[in-house]
Amino acid sequence: MEPPIGVIDSGVGGLTVVKELLNRLPNEPIVYIGDDARCPYGPRAVEEIKAFTMEMASALAEKGIKMLVIACNTATAAALDDLRAFFPFPIVGVIEPGARAAVNASQTDEIAVLGTVGTVNSGAYEDAIHRLVPKAKVHSLACPAFVPIVESGQYKSEHASTIVKQTLEPLQQVDFDTAILGCTHYPLLQHHIQQHLPGTVRIISSAIETVHDVERLLHLNSIERLETRKVSPVFYTTGELDKFRSIVADWLSIDKLDVRQIEL
Ligand code: DGL
Repeated sequence: MEPPIGVIDSGVGGLTVVKELLNRLPNEPIVYIGDDARCPYGPRAVEEIKAFTMEMASALAEKGIKMLVIACNTATAAALDDLRAFFPFPIVGVIEPGARAAVNASQTDEIAVLGTVGTVNSGAYEDAIHRLVPKAKVHSLACPAFVPIVESGQYKSEHASTIVKQTLEPLQQVDFDTAILGCTHYPLLQHHIQQHLPGTVRIISSAIETVHDVERLLHLNSIERLETRKVSPVFYTTGELDKFRSIVADWLSIDKLDVRQIEL
């Protein structure tokens, strides 16, 4: 059996990238690890995030994968270069693709980036956007309350809407026409985010563009799966199995859910 594409995140956020992988590349096998037990990564020190990301990648490398997607902005900002230097398989992060999608969408080159404290402090989006459009204005906002709401499964609640409204208030003073969801957990709150940003703002999640990169690299390395018989993805969590399973079931429409626990 051909090795799968590995996908990692601090928790359930990477499922937003898996959803897009399943849409675009339905025949590719996928194995996922969500480190829900240690989520959120956003407030942690860079060295700790690097170590945790390395542990997830190593666990998947041991199982055998042909490519790795770091479906977490915080982990991409902290650990992409280290992981690329260490592992032999191709590795895709989510920040370059997100920046590219935003730059393509923006008419005014004024872009808001919503992210975790770790991602915002890293300046990774500013750097990636400025490499593409040096004159772009980037307005970054850390949204530390968002990931815990999503991990608790309350992302559809009124409480979530209130928190999103309060968090986004500083952006009322700022001009921008495009907002990047610079954390893979945030698409689960997209409905609320959309509601509390001006209607003209384009909201960008990096998932679609990231999957374009995956497709390109599979092709470039001649490692696409040619067989058309579908295989079910396998999901691992370091956290509570039932909570994780219910979010996977809610977010992805998969007939047969294979959800397991893993210790890192
Ligand atoms: N999904 C992760 C990201 O994209 C969440 C970070 C966290 O665990 O705080 O940054």
